[in-house]
Amino acid sequence: MLTDSHCHLFKEYYNDLPSIIDNAQKNGVNRFIVDGCDKTSNQEVLELVKEYDCIYGCLGIHPENILEYKEEDLDFIKENLASKKIVGIGEIGLDYHYGKENKEAQKKLFRKQMQIACEWGLPVVIHSREATEDTINILKEFPKVTGVIHSFSLSKEVADIYLKLGYKLGINGVVTFKNCNLKEILPDILPNIILETDSPYLTPHPFRGTTNEPKYIKNIADFICQETNISLEELEKITNQNIKEVFRI
Ligand code: NI
Repeated sequence: MLTDSHCHLFKEYYNDLPSIIDNAQKNGVNRFIVDGCDKTSNQEVLELVKEYDCIYGCLGIHPENILEYKEEDLDFIKENLASKKIVGIGEIGLDYHYGKENKEAQKKLFRKQMQIACEWGLPVVIHSREATEDTINILKEFPKVTGVIHSFSLSKEVADIYLKLGYKLGINGVVTFKNCNLKEILPDILPNIILETDSPYLTPHPFRGTTNEPKYIKNIADFICQETNISLEELEKITNQNIKEVFRI
């Protein structure tokens, strides 16, 4: 059994979700963790976890939504954390690629959501783009919280810092991109990875240019097995154990 530990299976991207789920299951991908990014998608996460046994959810405000979010959106998250199928706070973090001009506001929102995770004893799903130093410093302020560094693609040195803080590394289709050096450190980080697609984004090679789907977890897994000389069974064992450790499912 494979798990897509990070995807956005929302109506605005997929008009036939049952067939997307079916295609994934045919590829051995049987569990899905859907991450919310704003009030609307958080509401949709709550509907999806009710409708599908195989879908778990995380609630959060993505840093890209820093300008639109309202304080009550955080209250909405808190009001809905009691469900057993809500397994974390995400996707949260810092994005300085698009948001250079509102770094302080992003940090404030990030800290507020880390605090919610801390109070509820939930893991976090971290989005960090061109913001490594600030991300690490804020994670250090919350030593009781752990989680996943979503879409990790940086150096072994940075990986080691995150691992030392107790975080796992989310690996997706980026690892298959021709210009990505992440494959070189795969053997080192292998014991601490989990698999994700970030669907509908980041479609793996050779399907780039089309909409990503959870079924491609199998392609990402095959690529990692090839690069690290382990069997699919071994990779399933490692990643499922890590998912159990982080999300307690
Ligand atoms: Ni995402």
